[in-house]
Formats: sequence, C-alpha cells, structure tokens
Amino acid sequence: MTVSAPAGYTYDDHALPASPVSAAELEQLKASVLFTDDDAAALAMAGDVLADQITDVLDTWYGFVGSHPHLVAYFADRDGEPIKSYLDAVYHRFGRWILDTCRRPYDERWLAYQEEIALRHTPAKKNKTDGVDSVPVVPLRYLIAFIYPITATMRPFLAKKGHSEADVERMHAAWFKSVTLQVALWSRPYAEREW
Ligand code: HEM
Repeated sequence: MTVSAPAGYTYDDHALPASPVSAAELEQLKASVLFTDDDAAALAMAGDVLADQITDVLDTWYGFVGSHPHLVAYFADRDGEPIKSYLDAVYHRFGRWILDTCRRPYDERWLAYQEEIALRHTPAKKNKTDGVDSVPVVPLRYLIAFIYPITATMRPFLAKKGHSEADVERMHAAWFKSVTLQVALWSRPYAEREW
C-alpha cells in the first residue's frame, strides 16, 4: 500500500483477530442479499468512479450527521459537545471503508475487519481507538436506518463520470447490497446468541 493508513485503521494488522463469522456463513449471507460476482465487478467499477470523489461523499454524509443533533451526539463528549478530533479521525477511516467496500476481496481479512468495525460501534470498542470520552454505543437501530441515506446519497456520485444509466444502476444496486450485507454482519455483537 503506497498511501499511509489513517490513524486507527487496522485492516492490515497481523494482530487483527479472526472474525467469529465463518466463510460459509458469509456465503449464505451474501446469497440472502443476492450478492453475486456481477455485484463484485460493479463495485470494482464504482471504486474507480468514486476514488477521486471520496471527500465529496464524506462531506455529504458528515453534513447529514451534523445536521441531526441526535446523530452527532455519538461523536460528542459527555457535555454534548462534538469532539472534533474524533470526527476527523473517523472521517479518514470512513474514506478507506468506501474504497475497501469497492475494492477489497470479501475474504477472511475483510470479515475480520467487519467484526472490528462492528465492535467499534458497541461498548466493547467504541471510543477506544481514538482515546475519547464519548457515549459508549451507537444504537443498532441507527446502523440499520443509515443503510438508506448511505445508499441514496451515493447515486449522484456514481452517475458523475458519464457511465450509462444501466451501469449506474448496477453500481448502485451492488453498493446497496454490500452496505446491507455489512450492517447485517455488524449486528452480530449486538445480537450475540440470536445472530
Ligand atoms: C465508525 C461506517 C452508522 C457513528 C465508523 C467507521 C465506519 C463506519 C466505516 C470507521 C471504522 C474504522 O474504525 O475503521 C458506518 C456505516 C453505517 C454507520 C456504513 C451505516 C450504514 C453509524 C451511525 C452512527 C455512527 C448511525 C451514529 C451517528 C460512528 C462512530 C464511529 C463510527 C461514533 C467511531 C467509532 C469508534 O469509536 O471507533 N462507522 N457507520 N455510525 N461510526 Fe459508523
């Protein structure tokens, strides 16, 4: 990797624990969300479309979070004041995630980092990576609800590089499936026994 990793981004760390989710369970989950090799190819195309638009995408999403006090609260200190260094650190890891979603193989390491992202939204690991004193958990209901804005806001960016309507639709559908798949994986530590 030529670009240095953002602070706290441990995708490529050798010490990253394996996911409790098996490769077979991942395959079944992919089948359940109708994720196919064609979606992987469409995401690879999306990666090329999005690579130079990451800042614009993130600014859109942060604008959305920032305009809803009940959401920005999860980046705030105990007095409800947003922690700028926390927002900034997550911003850079979020940017990596967009490209990882498009370009990384969905293999065991990807699964392991999926579990890590899940835990970072829960009391097990939230705040620890950035050493902040914020609220201890992002409620699962908001992770699920976010699938819509994270998907709907992506379409104009996918359409910006002159691809046919059919290709934009393929990329957008693949993105929607992947985000749904990932949030399903992230629900695991919230549900544990029932997962
Ligand atoms: C962290 C994605 C929902 C608040 C992250 C990271 C990603 C991400 C990629 C950084 C992971 C890393 O450390 O490498 C998503 C996606 C969501 C979602 C795709 C839904 C589809 C939410 C919601 C909130 C939220 C609804 C609440 C406003 C946070 C916070 C962190 C974080 C506070 C930092 C956690 C920490 O302390 O490490 N998210 N997120 N996320 N997200 Fe989310």
